[in-house]
Amino acid sequence: MLSGKRIILGVTGGIAAYKAVFLLREFQKAGAEVRVTMTPSATRFVGLETFTSLSGHDVAIEIFPKEEQATEWTRHINWGEWADLFVIAPCTGNTLAKIANGISDNMLTATVLAARSPLLICPTMDGEMYESPSVSENLKKVESFGYHILEPESGFLASGLEGKGRLPEIDVILEKASEIIGSVKGPLEGKKVIVTAGPTREFIDPVRFISNPSSGKMGFAMATAAQRLGAEVTLIHGPVSIDKPEGIITKSIVSAEDLYKAVQQNADADVIIMSAAVSDFTPANTFEHKVKKESGDNTINLKNTTDILSWLGERKPTHQTLIGFAMETQNLIQNATSKLERKKADWIIANSLSNKDTGFEADTNQVHVLGKSSKTEFKGTKQEVAERVLKFIFDSE
Ligand code: CTP
Repeated sequence: MLSGKRIILGVTGGIAAYKAVFLLREFQKAGAEVRVTMTPSATRFVGLETFTSLSGHDVAIEIFPKEEQATEWTRHINWGEWADLFVIAPCTGNTLAKIANGISDNMLTATVLAARSPLLICPTMDGEMYESPSVSENLKKVESFGYHILEPESGFLASGLEGKGRLPEIDVILEKASEIIGSVKGPLEGKKVIVTAGPTREFIDPVRFISNPSSGKMGFAMATAAQRLGAEVTLIHGPVSIDKPEGIITKSIVSAEDLYKAVQQNADADVIIMSAAVSDFTPANTFEHKVKKESGDNTINLKNTTDILSWLGERKPTHQTLIGFAMETQNLIQNATSKLERKKADWIIANSLSNKDTGFEADTNQVHVLGKSSKTEFKGTKQEVAERVLKFIFDSE
């Protein structure tokens, strides 16, 4: 259940903070990606380097990062958007009180406010503290916010006293985390989604073809994003040299005609995302053998390929969401809006090729999402953009 999931582990300043190291390892063993945020007092119990090296990611403590990372002051928002689950273990009475009152004076508590994921709080403190009226009130309050609470266990406490307040065993936390994640249904749960990606190749003869520099990165990111939102994804892609996403059915094609046939077989899907950079032209004649330069024929006659997106738009079933892309070098919005109408798509994701951070090969992108009645803009890594786009589209539908 935790495999491939993204977890923020929040660690606060209690003696059980050292157990969070083991919890981090177990989350990772279960296949989750973990980022750690600590309160400043948690660093008195466990060195942040321990969590940094084990998580393979910077540990966030303060909202305002060091000067050299000054643009990263929105990290709590990005982390809040990134996570599938936020687990605070151990959670002190102090942090609990802050959460109950919306106080956001450090990275951990600010991320609580920014989080879009479920939150699991593991209150851990001395027995008397746990039984105190304010802690009881705060627990009721945070439960009423919809946050999950994992009750502490009873036993021998750091004070030398016996009582209720111990951090539950790691496997108990893991089980609760899996149960929470398993209960979250993404907006594409149970939907069949087809994503096309990468370039096509139109062969002239066995050694020459017409193609384009599409890397397939954006289409692959769209496929992974759809899968994260619960979809059953099939990715149909042209020749690319990037890794296949895990857990996604892939089908490779070469030409625009191959892609057209593969899409036709899946034309009833709930969602079709045409991110492929389909060649608009293909040679009118192809040669079985390599054309020799001595033949003197240096003209290639071309014919149009089928416009697959338009073909889909013409026969779109009512249950289907049809998403196209528009790659433009000029008049981005105007051209993309005309493609939305002309191709009868529900959405067009438009990006300009005139910027080095948004091109075919780049890992980042900046897109305009144009629908019939709403539009927006996103930028970030291709994966972030893909997730934001799909969340926007399926929250609007
Ligand atoms: N597309 C398609 N079949 C084609 C060409 C393009 O399905 N033969 C799809 C692309 O996958 C994309 C959308 O149409 O989702 C727009 O592609 P783009 O290359 O931007 O536009 P074109 O239709 O090729 O128009 P133009 O070349 O005039 O910009």
